[in-house]
Amino acid sequence: MIVHDFSKQNSLLNQYIREMRDVTIQKDYLRFRKNVERVGELLAYEMSKSLPYQTTTVKTPLGSKEVSVPNADIVLCSVLRAGLPLHQGILNVFDGVENAFISAYRHHPNGADDFEVQVEYLASPSIEGKTLILADPMLATGRTFENVLRALKTHGIPKKIHLISIIGAKAGIFLADTVFPSDTELWIAAVDNQLNERGYIVPGLGDAGDLCYGPR
Ligand code: URA
Repeated sequence: MIVHDFSKQNSLLNQYIREMRDVTIQKDYLRFRKNVERVGELLAYEMSKSLPYQTTTVKTPLGSKEVSVPNADIVLCSVLRAGLPLHQGILNVFDGVENAFISAYRHHPNGADDFEVQVEYLASPSIEGKTLILADPMLATGRTFENVLRALKTHGIPKKIHLISIIGAKAGIFLADTVFPSDTELWIAAVDNQLNERGYIVPGLGDAGDLCYGPR
């Protein structure tokens, strides 16, 4: 897997993520969602540079010009709930993509410190031979992406996969690296070192779904 970690560069991404992490302001849901959306826009823009491009001719009222434009059939699949504003941010950049949604939630059959990822809802067009963008704001253990990938395989095998996350833990990046094809690219705005015993990213930002839409 090819990892594009933008925390290593100076960019506005750092400012948005600082606000999302800050315990004194992160409970402003509107601002949190807006920041998720803005991070989605910037990561999607960065990702767009790695797509295949083709040259086409555009006619203006005064002449014509050759321009290079992306040439990829893209399916954007986001993980509910916190993936919704990230999805919107990516859509703001790629307006012509097909859309897919998947639910993945943690359930705890053996107590609070252990969990399984349950995938219940999947609405997706065929992804066969297409470019799949998988968006989930928090790449914690990597088990959500692992289960989502398994579920999506019922809709075809994509030609190329891009993962977009806001914050990732090293352990999650490591697991993703073992389950996704080696040419998969991860676009990530921040990488944290640790997970706690409940599988939350430390320092992370807390529960991204709750911060977007309120507690369950
Ligand atoms: N999901 C979240 O919202 N936060 C984490 O830290 C891990 C998973």
